[in-house]
Amino acid sequence: MATAIVESYAPIYFENNHILVKKNFFFDQHQHNGPVVGRQMIGDALRHRVESIDHESCDPGDEDTFFVGDLGEVYRQHMRWKKNLPRVKPFYAVKCNPDPKVIQLLAGLGTGFDCASKAEIEQVLNMGVDPARIIYAQPCKTNSYVRYVATKGVKQMTFDNADELRKIAKLFPDAELYLRILTDDSSSLCRLSLKFGASLDATNDLLGLAKDLGLNVVGVSFHVGSGASDPLAFLKAVQDADTVFKQAYAHGFDMKTLDVGGGFCGDSFDDMAHVLRDALDEYFPPHINIIAEPGRYYVSSAFTLACNVIARRTIDNPVSGETSYMAYVNDGLYGNFSSIMFDHQHPIAKVLRTGMRTYYNTPLADGMPDGENAGIEYSIWGPTCDGIDRITESIRFDHELDVGDWLYFEDMGAYTKCSATKFNGFSDSHDVIYVCSEPGARALLGF
Ligand SMILES: Cc1ncc(COP(=O)(O)O)c(C=O)c1O
Repeated sequence: MATAIVESYAPIYFENNHILVKKNFFFDQHQHNGPVVGRQMIGDALRHRVESIDHESCDPGDEDTFFVGDLGEVYRQHMRWKKNLPRVKPFYAVKCNPDPKVIQLLAGLGTGFDCASKAEIEQVLNMGVDPARIIYAQPCKTNSYVRYVATKGVKQMTFDNADELRKIAKLFPDAELYLRILTDDSSSLCRLSLKFGASLDATNDLLGLAKDLGLNVVGVSFHVGSGASDPLAFLKAVQDADTVFKQAYAHGFDMKTLDVGGGFCGDSFDDMAHVLRDALDEYFPPHINIIAEPGRYYVSSAFTLACNVIARRTIDNPVSGETSYMAYVNDGLYGNFSSIMFDHQHPIAKVLRTGMRTYYNTPLADGMPDGENAGIEYSIWGPTCDGIDRITESIRFDHELDVGDWLYFEDMGAYTKCSATKFNGFSDSHDVIYVCSEPGARALLGF
């Protein structure tokens, strides 16, 4: 669906199924309130799109699920990062959401990029980013990818075991290596230390082997787990990194950089940043560069997803006399709600449009508070034939939803689209309508 005409928007660009919306908002330097303008723009984009679709007559795919992405929100997160962690240069974790406009904006803002595969590295290089701004942060790499990065001059990469060191010695001896260490990630949503990270028992021997192989270890990296919630995990990891720096100095390595990984969430960022900032200042002198690999932090809140109600099943309870509904929407766990499976998320449905009215960002969009038996109860299901494809077990709305109505879900920018599948023949590629609520970001993007 790339044919919606949005009357009050001018002009609209279509790029590879991506829609770029330019809105003539007046940005006053003193009065500009980015989040408020952002909501207004997101609401307008959602409304214009859904009001242009008549499910009784539209073509297949016209009513497909779609995103609205506010690039101004990504920009604001960057400014917040710079304010709270001025010493730490972010290398955006592309895996989280490889959206081309997000990458373009972050490249313009001067961030680096954490890439985990050849395709991610290629995408970033093709945007004109200098190879020195990329870290190949995958401790267990594919041989052919290591040969590829050697030809492209992407030198920075992580390792955490002896076999990987021997691989790098053979394929790319000039690489700049970061020893990834184990962390306590028990408070995180997605634990990574089950799979990656050298324990402090192993780091000294690994550094000795790297020296014997003539390799160049330049730093230490860690990741406290994606969706981390305990700021003290950062403190402990910084302390451990300090220990490994000392081991590396003893082996004669010229250690230049500490990579503090990702794990930052929008909600808890200020607390995390406070603890991390103090720990870095205590353990790492100013001549040591500090980088990080934030993913979710930058994009989660920037993307809103709209889904169409494609079917409904009525459930009459003979005992209570209550009527509830199973609402089937055109996106689910095998699609952009893959975050429920892989990222332990609980996306919250809100009513976008029902009964010919649009409710974005109004109290009537929200579900009823838990425990109150007011309104009508729904369970919300994805479109595939699999019984696990359920988005919401139970939510109550003030409205009686029906086929053709729309729901929306906020905070859908991280680990959603990137891990969607085509299971059952449904698309894994959905339109993104971009809006931009920050003049600074608009200038960088050239719109
Ligand atoms: C090596 C590495 N860096 C960075 C990230 C991004 O983490 P987050 O999105 O929690 O910031 C991940 C996520 O899995 C990762 O594996």
